[in-house]
Amino acid sequence: MDSLKISLLCFLLSVIFIPNFTASQILFQGFNWESAKKGGWYNILKQSAAELASSGITHVWLPPPSHAISDEGYMPGRLYDLNVSKYGNQDDLKALIKAYSDNGIQSIADIVINHRCAEKQDERGIWCIFEGGTPDDRLDWGPSLICSDDTQYSDGKGNPDTGADFGGAPDIDHKNTRVQNELSDWMNWLKTEIGFSGWRFDFVKGYAPEFTKLYVANTKPSFSVGEFWNSLAYGSDGKPEYNQDNHRKELAGWIGNAGGEVTAFDFTTKGILQAAVQGELGRLKDSNGGPPGLIGISPRNSVTFIDNHDTGSTQKLWPFPSDKVIQGYAYILTHPGIPSIFYDHFFDWGLKEEISKLTAIRSRNGIKPDSAVHILAADADLYLASIDDKIITKIGPRSDVGNLVPPTFKIATSGNDYSVWEKTA
Ligand SMILES: *[C@@H]1O[C@H](CO)[C@@H](O)[C@H](O)[C@H]1NC(C)=O
Repeated sequence: MDSLKISLLCFLLSVIFIPNFTASQILFQGFNWESAKKGGWYNILKQSAAELASSGITHVWLPPPSHAISDEGYMPGRLYDLNVSKYGNQDDLKALIKAYSDNGIQSIADIVINHRCAEKQDERGIWCIFEGGTPDDRLDWGPSLICSDDTQYSDGKGNPDTGADFGGAPDIDHKNTRVQNELSDWMNWLKTEIGFSGWRFDFVKGYAPEFTKLYVANTKPSFSVGEFWNSLAYGSDGKPEYNQDNHRKELAGWIGNAGGEVTAFDFTTKGILQAAVQGELGRLKDSNGGPPGLIGISPRNSVTFIDNHDTGSTQKLWPFPSDKVIQGYAYILTHPGIPSIFYDHFFDWGLKEEISKLTAIRSRNGIKPDSAVHILAADADLYLASIDDKIITKIGPRSDVGNLVPPTFKIATSGNDYSVWEKTA
């Protein structure tokens, strides 16, 4: 082959095999802490497939699908049994995923594998006999597959835990190859049999990142995100410190050790943003002049969000100020990273129209996970930034932005203490 043919071939191969980061990706969390109580949640969600697609949503994160001893699904037991979930049965779930897929939306499964609830007690009376939910012995585990330092349940034969302990249930020994192989098989079954495309890994602080890397390598999701929820640094006044570099570096470190392909929820941006919108918008510019969250150092691997079923909803473990939520969306939907939208804000809080205008601006202007941010102002009452020199976002109450917005930019949308301009020329 001559060099022209080789370079043509290389080009074609790169078009086929390099992941496409240019497409606008927007995640939607399709449930909250109350969804399990609604009865038939999968069927309720199915009705919104076309609406979500027309709002630019490309991926929906669904709740943990398996049998569990808690209604919400985060205490799973028989992993292959999808018929007794409070959200609906296996056929309902497949129909939901099909409806999304027909509308171009991929479904993301919530993978809860740090811990697992046993089906039966052993001869010692300890709850440590697991049942997979199939007629054969897949995922039928015993106490030797529990971390040895989880002494309440273990028989001491497993390996010590490689991450944080989860108090409520046995922590699973991810160093064990049977665990690795059978969990990978189960996730591949969720892909091929049920129709999931990717994963949201629950509580990844509970086991070493090398195992997330392994499960990603074994199952090849089109998209995956880890919940590494670490605490910000707080000052003596009880507020987050201005500099949260250690926090975001910990997230970036986890991403790297988990293989570099997986993304992480940007808890740094959430924490800084919810402090910033309370009259401290200067926080939105770090000491290098860039965005202060994970999006400032690892934007392609950042999933930005305002609240989820834990931080918001009825649990409210770390809620965004409720009257400032739309300012949060004006930031994440115009900035780098992969933004996500919470069910509650979209459907229950009356923000659907405003959020949809912002997603339309994002997609029209081709804003990408790694788009460039140029911060024009970051004062207590005004944050102004240009993204890819295509749009300008303002957060904050100050209406006079002087000549910071060039005349070639025209207002595209605005609301309570936010505005977005688009370049016209
Ligand atoms: C769940 O229901 C589906 C469809 O009826 C069936 O194919 C599957 O075997 C059931 N799974 C279990 C664990 O009972």
